[in-house]
Amino acid sequence: MTLRLGVLVSGGGTNLQSILDAVRAGALDAEVRLVLSNRPKAGGLERARAAGVPALAISHRRFETREAFDAALVEALREHGVEWVALAGFMRVLTPTFLRAFPGRVVNIHPALLPAFPGVEAQHQAWDYGVKVAGCTVHFVDEGVDTGPILGQVAVPVLDDDDAERLRLRILAEEHALYPRVLQWLAEGRVVREGRRTRLAPEG
Ligand code: GRF
Repeated sequence: MTLRLGVLVSGGGTNLQSILDAVRAGALDAEVRLVLSNRPKAGGLERARAAGVPALAISHRRFETREAFDAALVEALREHGVEWVALAGFMRVLTPTFLRAFPGRVVNIHPALLPAFPGVEAQHQAWDYGVKVAGCTVHFVDEGVDTGPILGQVAVPVLDDDDAERLRLRILAEEHALYPRVLQWLAEGRVVREGRRTRLAPEG
């Protein structure tokens, strides 16, 4: 099943790029129908346009409530035939208004091994804490902050000569491999969800 995907970004969009590249390479059976950003200047919007994908900015500042902002996002996504939503560096917490529109079909990538270090600047949190193993997580989105059922994780060792920035970049490289891979599992309909637990059904 081809995933009709909407991607939500707030920043540079390197994860979006990894999704676009995987689609073009035939490694991800998805069609990116719309890239949405709450920030008009987000680099991700440029990446979308360069790939010939519709890109739209809807500033959250124009709305009085989170629900009203989310309703506008949902409307735009629906207009473009989006069925699945991938958050890729999207810096707003989604309300039930949004999640109910795409039940069980919103995923996020987080630059830490959840449930450790949820929230912003997770790589820096992990670095400051002094962990020996960092990493990244792709998970379903629920109403909490980075709390939904986990779909995939990759561990990244912290090296003795690391600094926070080097670690962030090595985690980011793993994010770029992990996110398209998990999305492809979803496209193949192989993800089995049992409460908080997910597992991958065999291929074919
Ligand atoms: C990534 O580290 C992602 O895990 C986090 O925000 C960052 C976004 O980077 N949620 P980019 O915009 O995809 O380059």
